[in-house]
Amino acid sequence: MVLINVEVKKVTREAYGIRSFLLAKKGLFRLPAYTPGAHIDVYCGEGIIRQCSLCGDPTDRRHLMIAVRQVDPSRGGSDLIHHVVNEGDRLEIGAPRNNFSPDETATHSLLLAAGIGITPIIAMADRLHALGQSFELHHFSRAPEYPAFRGRLTQGSFADRVTFYEGLDVARTGRALDDILAGPVAGGKVYMCGPGPFMDRTLAAAQVQWPQDAINLERFAAKPALAGAPTKPFDVELARRYVTLNVGADETILDVLETNEVDAAFSCEQGVCGTCVTDLLSGTPENRDSFLSAGQRTSGNAMCICVSRAAGEKLVLDFQVERLRWMSEVSMNIGKRLASCCACSQPYTGSSAIGTSNPSKAGVRR
Ligand code: FES
Repeated sequence: MVLINVEVKKVTREAYGIRSFLLAKKGLFRLPAYTPGAHIDVYCGEGIIRQCSLCGDPTDRRHLMIAVRQVDPSRGGSDLIHHVVNEGDRLEIGAPRNNFSPDETATHSLLLAAGIGITPIIAMADRLHALGQSFELHHFSRAPEYPAFRGRLTQGSFADRVTFYEGLDVARTGRALDDILAGPVAGGKVYMCGPGPFMDRTLAAAQVQWPQDAINLERFAAKPALAGAPTKPFDVELARRYVTLNVGADETILDVLETNEVDAAFSCEQGVCGTCVTDLLSGTPENRDSFLSAGQRTSGNAMCICVSRAAGEKLVLDFQVERLRWMSEVSMNIGKRLASCCACSQPYTGSSAIGTSNPSKAGVRR
């Protein structure tokens, strides 16, 4: 994984508790291309990596834009990025990854967002509008001062396709979602992003009538029901290492790799970010993540080793050892200053100057 050093060019208050950060490389260097729905890892130091959806213009190769919500009550991270990261600061980020890109051939797309979940959704809307595709965007928030990018949504070229839902209680939100998702469109797609309760309710409404392969979602945090499900031991073979390890009932594959000093990239450890996705050569996974798409689950070719387990006795993983070891060495140079997760309230620690030489595992178990 290539780390990219960027400068914070501009910080903008987008809404109550939400700021956007425009990132650029020094000079006139171009940044990696990405597609709408993509996110980047923001390397925060102290072994912390957070994922932020890209919400800018994908055709602008000189800038990336992320937006961060200040969590209330904060457990540290959102406070830091809101109060510590300023224009002119430097951050290290990973290359864009995307498991949430819109189907540009869909007959119609329903884009549903709540809170900071608007970040990948607004990028999708920009793209679908540019292509002349049929879509509608529904944005839920607690009050009129909460929706980020209101100007882009209300004054932009697709303003007539945006509907705001503000201050609805749980029951009214549910009824609104049922109405929006009633009557599936042949060849249509649904995309949803937002906090857990919104996602659960939206998914339930969508699954009543929409086919499973039409529903696409991106979560901020793991589904509690999966995280607490019963476990049993199994074996995992690392094909390129010719070694088989046992994963105990109270361990994850990631735990066992660490115990055996096998490098593995990871970040959230909740099955949300996709950093740990590993190719699966054989065996049936019991997927407990919130990251893989329905298609990826059906193919059974990859799994999130931080949370997912074996449905049977054994899994065989295609482990790219050399790449991961290189990544761990690069990560040792990551700076000490902290940013935060853009969307969730995971804990963060410490703060100092970005780019200092505090050694950090930074998301690599060794
Ligand atoms: S580390 Fe984030 S999905 Fe596994």
